Amino acid sequence: MASLSAPPTLPRASPVVVGAARGRRAAVRVRTAAAALGGGCGGGGGGGMEKDPGDGPRSTVKEKPVMSNIGKSTNILWHNCPIEQSDRQMLLGQKGCVVWITGLSGSGKSTLACALSRELHYRGHLTYVLDGDNLRHGLNRDLSFKAEDRAENIRRVGEVAKLFADAGIICIASLISPYRRDRDACRALLPDSKFIEVFMDLPLQICEARDPKGLYKLARTGKIKGFTGIDDPYEPPVNDSNQDERWGMPFAKSNGQASSVLP
Ligand code: ADX
Repeated sequence: MASLSAPPTLPRASPVVVGAARGRRAAVRVRTAAAALGGGCGGGGGGGMEKDPGDGPRSTVKEKPVMSNIGKSTNILWHNCPIEQSDRQMLLGQKGCVVWITGLSGSGKSTLACALSRELHYRGHLTYVLDGDNLRHGLNRDLSFKAEDRAENIRRVGEVAKLFADAGIICIASLISPYRRDRDACRALLPDSKFIEVFMDLPLQICEARDPKGLYKLARTGKIKGFTGIDDPYEPPVNDSNQDERWGMPFAKSNGQASSVLP
C-alpha cells in the first residue's frame, strides 16, 4: 500500500502542442499503422501480426493476424491505435493511475474519493470517480452481494479503472471490495505502481454508529443478509512480505462481533 499523495505529474504540453493535437496536425507522435501494430500500447493485448512467407514467387511479405482466445472470447485481435497513453498523458500534463479506496460501508470512502477528486481538480488534474453504489445503478446492476458477484463487480471496475488510467486520467475507485484476492487482481492489471490502495481503517463500531444509510440497522435485524462486517467478511489489506502466503487461507466469518472481521 502506498501513502496517499498527489500522483506523479508530467510537464504540461505546451499550448502549441495541445493546439496542434486538437487540430489533428503532426505535433503529436503518429506512427504508421505497421509500426503501431508492433508497438506495446498500454494495457496491450497479446495479438498482433505475423509475417506470412506467401504462396508464390509474385507475393511479397504478407501479414497474417494472430488471433487470441481470452476467456469465452475466441478469435479476437488486439488493435493498436497510433495515439498512445504517453501521447494522452502529454496532452493532459499528468500520468494516469488508479487510487483504489477500500473499506467498510460508512467508513468514508465516497467522501474521501470526492474530496480527493475536488482537490486534484482545483490543482489542474483530470480525475474521475468510480463509486461502487453508483456503478451498481448501471454497469453492475445485474450483480448481487454474493461473493462471486462481488468478485465480478471488482473485476469489472478494475478493468474500467485500467482504461481510465490508460486514458491518462487519475481514476479514484471507491468500493467496499472486501476480498483481498479481488483487490490484488486489480493491482496486477496496473503495473509500475499505477495502483495505489487506500484502506479506510475504521472499526466496525464507528461505521455502525454512523450508519449513514441505515443499512447496519437493517442488517442487525436480519432484514439485509450478507452485509459486510455483520454477517459477511471484510479482509483488510496486509502490507508485509507474507501477503502471498496468506492468500486463499480461510478467514473467520463474522459472528456479529467486530473483532472477528477486523484485526
Ligand atoms: S462490493 O462489496 O461489491 O465492493 P460495493 O462497493 O459495490 O460493494 O457496494 C456497496 C454498497 O452497496 C454499500 O455502500 C451499500 O449501500 C450497498 N449494499 C447493499 N447490500 C449490501 C451488502 N449486503 N453488503 C454491503 N453493502 C451493501
